[in-house]
Amino acid sequence: MRHYLKFSDFTLEEYQYLFERAAKLKERLRAGQLYQPLPGKVLGMIFEKSSTRTRVSFEAGMFQLGGHAMFLQSKDTQLGRGEPIEDVAKVISRMVDIVMVRTYEQSIIERFAENSLVPVINGLTNEYHPCQIMADIFTYVERFGSIEGKTVAWIGDSNNVSRTWLQAAKIFNFKLNLACPAGYEMTVLDGETYSSEHFESFRDIYTAARDADIVTTDVSTSMGYERETLQRKKDFLNYKVSEKVMLQAKANALFMHCLPAHRGEEVDPEVIDGPQSVVWEEAENRMHVQKAVIEYLLLGRIND
Ligand code: CP
Ligand code: NVA
Repeated sequence: MRHYLKFSDFTLEEYQYLFERAAKLKERLRAGQLYQPLPGKVLGMIFEKSSTRTRVSFEAGMFQLGGHAMFLQSKDTQLGRGEPIEDVAKVISRMVDIVMVRTYEQSIIERFAENSLVPVINGLTNEYHPCQIMADIFTYVERFGSIEGKTVAWIGDSNNVSRTWLQAAKIFNFKLNLACPAGYEMTVLDGETYSSEHFESFRDIYTAARDADIVTTDVSTSMGYERETLQRKKDFLNYKVSEKVMLQAKANALFMHCLPAHRGEEVDPEVIDGPQSVVWEEAENRMHVQKAVIEYLLLGRIND
């Protein structure tokens, strides 16, 4: 049994397979063909934080695969009243076939997975957001074939999304340039190390974006850090993706954002709603890649 708790849980070769699968599932759906390999299977979705895309993409995706998805908000379950995560994992995994968890610390999802009888997928933790970066790289690969050797410029802090981009840089062999104010530099977990061919830190957003193939950003305050909002708004005032930043990047560079976005804060409306933005494709592709992951974790490799 496999889990998908962080980006490095799959190898490059597995991602290549999963991208082929996601492309096939996307094509089938667009052609109106039913493909339901998971009748009678249930996906449990535990949310300790808000969500639009993650909930809808997993729920719609599981339904399309012939299964059922169950939305569980921790505040409405005993988890919200202090039931140990280990007990919740033991109970839920006796009744469902696969679980997605959106929670706070990575250690919570790891404890859940250790006690689960079924595969567990990370739907965002404080530390990682693997499904998001899988969708983002799939979005790039759909257009350009490969992300190897490219440069991704991240304008923002060290958070779940940028930390996952960094893990992906090592696996897919591209470079992540991160531009942030002092005090928000990249922090990694588990003693991971990165060479300069995969990671470089900047203060200046224009230098970080120079010749980039993807320019991306995120909210300055992630869920769970709301107490820091005022300070972060001040600190990130000059860390915004504007048209001037996009001009530093390659002419065919894409703008990405995991969403939700705050226009005028981390990104200007002209950029997110402009011709280089692929934010809606990214959001849609969450569903296609996650369907491939669910299918892979439950059925292994499929040849049809
Ligand atoms: N990008 C993303 O995970 O969005 P939600 O918070 O809406 O799920
Ligand atoms: N970094 C953001 C991503 C939201 C999808 C957060 O954790 O709130």
